Amino acid sequence: MRIRARKTAPNEAPTALLAVGLYDSESAPEALNGAADDALSGGDFSGKAGETALLYPKDAIAADRLLLVGLGDRASFTREKLRRIAATIAKKARSLKLDEAAFVLPVPEGSGVEEAALAAAEGVALGLYRFTRHKTGDEKAREFESFDLLLDESADEEAASHGADTGTKLAAAALLARDLANEPSNTATPEYLAETARGIAERHGMGITVLDRAGIEEEGLTGLATVGRSAVNEPRFIVLEHRKGGDAAPVVIIGKAVTFDSGGISIKPSGGMEDMKFDMGGGAAVLGAMEAAGSMNLPINVVALVPSTENLPGGGAFKPGDVLEMHSGKTVEIVSTDAEGRLILADALSYARRYDPSAVVDCATLTGACVVALGNHASGLMGNDEDLIAEVQTAGETAGERAWPLPLFDEYTEQIKGDTADIKNSARPAGALTAGAFLKEFAEYPWAHLDIAGTAFGKKGNAYTPKGGTGVPARTLVRFLMGRAENGEDA
Ligand code: BES
Ligand code: MN
Ligand code: ZN
Repeated sequence: MRIRARKTAPNEAPTALLAVGLYDSESAPEALNGAADDALSGGDFSGKAGETALLYPKDAIAADRLLLVGLGDRASFTREKLRRIAATIAKKARSLKLDEAAFVLPVPEGSGVEEAALAAAEGVALGLYRFTRHKTGDEKAREFESFDLLLDESADEEAASHGADTGTKLAAAALLARDLANEPSNTATPEYLAETARGIAERHGMGITVLDRAGIEEEGLTGLATVGRSAVNEPRFIVLEHRKGGDAAPVVIIGKAVTFDSGGISIKPSGGMEDMKFDMGGGAAVLGAMEAAGSMNLPINVVALVPSTENLPGGGAFKPGDVLEMHSGKTVEIVSTDAEGRLILADALSYARRYDPSAVVDCATLTGACVVALGNHASGLMGNDEDLIAEVQTAGETAGERAWPLPLFDEYTEQIKGDTADIKNSARPAGALTAGAFLKEFAEYPWAHLDIAGTAFGKKGNAYTPKGGTGVPARTLVRFLMGRAENGEDA
């Protein structure tokens, strides 16, 4: 699908469907040659947020169909609303079995045309997403061909085109993450993720290292080796390096990729356990972000670390009470084998020290407690560096992937003090924060942590996110990297 920005008058666009947004109680643009007048004067449509009206303008304009969409109050129109409206338009066109549409691009107050085109392109590409790979019927419909963003005469077409292109690439990061997350664990094994990473490396000239079980043991990644010990589908430790920032210290992004989390010996209840195929959402988002870093050719050094394994019970499985000597040298007492994510992340965090990174951001479907705290409306955000936390929060806000700061007081670290080892892998109450405190023990550089247990997948979805894998926080990570590239913090 092509998403383009072009200067075309609304009446002159020869498209199957022209979408025009109207703010609440404002009149239709003159270029529609009266095609919307009856709908407005008859009271069918007034421009309220969420309203739509499909009209057949006959010969008044060049388009076959005219879709009026309510933008609501002008002053409170945002890029997030634009994303949703663009998605709604694209999905409406597809439901009419069309393969093209055009949209007169509304620019939110305080935004430039570039950011507006970016948000609209994101909305279209994200909104049209469906996971149909394993469907055998006719749901594999025709691809959508083209979506045009129509600009007014005074607009900067080059900036808008750049925005549409960037938005398409940002969306592609999330779409890759969704595809990986939605893929069931019988296909999406650790090796499958490694193969995906090899593809990214090849497409964009990145360095790649994949450690297999023997390599993981040899490297001393005890947490990952131990969680993966009883699995027939072997664990992998994936290292992907994008080196376009000279000899500057790299940013490291880390994603938990437990391809299926049964809980292990501390086994989970069976109801809803199928959702635990999404427990690799962090790793999926990291791979999506690397794909975008490559396609955007970001002038920055980025290292992606993706520890990947299944967590299963079995004769060789690790057990509550076991003590592990981690990659960093710290010892950990296992309280619950279901607190496995922090074990594989801890090793990745201490592995990251070798890069002397300027910043490390990890993301993980880490705790049910985070879902209790924030529901599905924000990722939990923790860390050891206020500036980095603020930077990640802003990146999330810009992406429309909200993240909210949670505290890592010393008292939470107190809670995870071990009896027979240095620390233990689980403590209540405040399960999201004791998990964060656990990770903090292994992060010896500016570090931020996103708990995406409530945001990486969903049962409901919204205008641009169907249920299932959401791709969160792939676009947050890309925005974060774009910010770093722009500020030359790595140049
Ligand atoms: N993968 C789960 C966390 C999770 C729960 C993600 C729900 C998405 C939705 C994680 O490995 C886990 O099992 N966490 C435990 C930790 C506990 C044993 C300390 C939890 O949250 O119950
Ligand atoms: Mn678990
Ligand atoms: Zn898990």
